[in-house]
Amino acid sequence: MTSTKGTRHGLALVDLDEQGVDRAFRADVLAGLRQSPKAIPARWFYDERGSQLFEDITRLPEYYPTRAETEILGARGAEFAALVGPGRAVVEFGSGSSVKTPLLLQAIAPAAYVPLDISGDFLRASAAALAAKFPGLPVHPVEADFMRRVALPAEVESMPKLGFFPGSTIGNMVPPTAVDLLREMRATLGEGAQLLIGFDLVKDTDMLLAAYDDAAGVTAAFNLNLAERINRELGGTIPVDALRHEAQWNDPLARIEMHLVATRAITFEVAGQRFSLAEGETIHTENSHKFTRRSLSLMLLAGGWTPAQRWTDAEGRFAVVLADATLPRSAP
Ligand code: AVJ
Repeated sequence: MTSTKGTRHGLALVDLDEQGVDRAFRADVLAGLRQSPKAIPARWFYDERGSQLFEDITRLPEYYPTRAETEILGARGAEFAALVGPGRAVVEFGSGSSVKTPLLLQAIAPAAYVPLDISGDFLRASAAALAAKFPGLPVHPVEADFMRRVALPAEVESMPKLGFFPGSTIGNMVPPTAVDLLREMRATLGEGAQLLIGFDLVKDTDMLLAAYDDAAGVTAAFNLNLAERINRELGGTIPVDALRHEAQWNDPLARIEMHLVATRAITFEVAGQRFSLAEGETIHTENSHKFTRRSLSLMLLAGGWTPAQRWTDAEGRFAVVLADATLPRSAP
C-alpha cells in the first residue's frame, strides 16, 4: 500500500510504507550497499539535521562556493537586468536561498516567482519568506520533482521564463544525468526561456579538498549524518564510530568525491538485511563535479542551452552563466 499522507516531514511526494519508512530511501540504501563499490545517492543527506549541517557548511571559512556565488549575484544585478529584461517569471529549481534568490529578484523586476521543490515544507516556508520580502510579486510554489518536466501554473503560462539553478547543484550529478536535467528544464521553461545557473570551477586541489574536509569537522558530521539517518529511519545498526569521513579529488572525472571509510571490518543490518565492509572499504556518498569554462559550455549545449554570458567572482573560483534555450536544430 502506498501512503502519500502528511508525515512529520509533510511531504506529499514522499511514498511511505505502513511503518512510515520512505520507500525510495530504503530502496536506494539497500541497492547501494549491495553494489560494489558501495554508493548511496547524495540527495539523502538532506533530512532536517543534514539540511542544518549544510547551512553550517556554507558559513565555513574553507567552503568558498556560497560566498563566491553570492558575490557574483550581488555585483552583477545591473547586467542581469539588461540581458534578462523585466516581466519574466523566475522559475527556481529548488526551494531557494534566503540570500541568493532576493539578490536576483531585486535586480531584474520579474513578473512572478515560481519555486519548484520536492519537499513541500521547505518550499512553503521559503515561498512565504520571499512573498513577505517582495509584497507586489506573485509567488506560485509548485511541489514537484524537477528532474522531470514540470507543468507550470496557468498564471505564468504566457510569461517568458528565467530558470534559476544556483549553488552548482548540477555538479552533484554525473554528466548524463546533468544533461537529462538541462533538457527537462528546457522543456519545462519553453521557447524563449533563459537559464541562470551556477558552476563551481576546477581549481587548486588543496583548496578543493579543504572545502570538503574542513578543520571544524562540519563536513565530516554532514557525511556521517547519512549513516546516522540510516540507523534512525531504516532500523540500521551501522557502528558509526567505525566510519571516517574522507574527501578525494578524482582528477580524470574532475570531481570531489565524499566517502565513508571503514576504519575496521564491520557488519551491520539495515531494514533486516546484513551488510559488511572490510577495513578500508568505503561507501561513496557524493560527487561534486567541478567545471572549466569549456566543460560547462559543452554541458549546457548538450542540454539544449546556448551560453550567452559568464561571470566569475574576483578570485575566479565560481561561475554564473546566463544561457538561452537553444532553437530547434537548423541546418546543417
Ligand atoms: C549543495 C551540492 C552544492 O557539492 O558543494 C557541500 C553539497 N557537500 N559540502 C557541494 C556539499 C559537501 C554542495 N552542493
